[in-house]
Amino acid sequence: MLVIVKENYESMSAEAAKIIANRMRRKPNLVLGLATGSTPLGLYKELIRMHKNEGLDFSTVTTFNLDEYVGLPPSHDQSYDYFMQQNFFKEININPRYVHVPQGMTKDVNAFCEWYEKRIVEFGGIDLQILGIGGNGHIAFNEPGCSLGSRTRIKTLTEKTRNDNARFFSSMDEVPKYAITMGVGTIMDAKELLLVANKSNKAKAVKAAVEGPVTATCPASIIQMHRNTFVVLDKESSALLEIEYVDTWESMLFE
Ligand code: GLP
Repeated sequence: MLVIVKENYESMSAEAAKIIANRMRRKPNLVLGLATGSTPLGLYKELIRMHKNEGLDFSTVTTFNLDEYVGLPPSHDQSYDYFMQQNFFKEININPRYVHVPQGMTKDVNAFCEWYEKRIVEFGGIDLQILGIGGNGHIAFNEPGCSLGSRTRIKTLTEKTRNDNARFFSSMDEVPKYAITMGVGTIMDAKELLLVANKSNKAKAVKAAVEGPVTATCPASIIQMHRNTFVVLDKESSALLEIEYVDTWESMLFE
């Protein structure tokens, strides 16, 4: 695991984007796993800038999003599909045929989840999976106590996660109770992981994920078992870490 600590959110986002762009240039038909939430917004912005100013080409990239709320159509402004379209896809030259976001309105959740897993395999597996982290240590919507071998499936959201997300909805009743999410096992099958976190409210979860025991109580701690993981943090989210970490990935083994 390579942990990189940057001064602030902007430099953290730029560092993460640099890793992604490097992988895209090395493999133009990269299969990229995408995450939602406020944390990756900065790195999406930076990738958009690279696309517009430096010609970073997404036309042969395939994407798979981690998760989606059950019951929200893509037109709902809090659906993850809508989030991705607004904050990323509409600004880059991605081929819509290669974009995959779990379907929150599917009539047959189990069949959909099976299809999603198969589709990932058809594309040769995810090369690089972007991850955020929940305040309770969740990754995607794999909440504490989930199976560390799980595959794409429907999950009940915890009260903590629903509360954390309530600010985006007009009332608590509107916050979805379920989500379709890649499993921890699905995420671990990606060839590389890139976890990003910022702000002090993530410091505890980051500490547990990076330096704590590997446990389903903090699903993100599973990244310690992955051979190729980048963790890119700002100063605040890294505040509880005890080991000293690097401030850039360049010229490291991972290149
Ligand atoms: C949601 C998403 C996660 C994300 C988390 C943190 O629960 N399902 O993928 O990592 O929120 O979001 P934020 O980056 O806004 O703190």
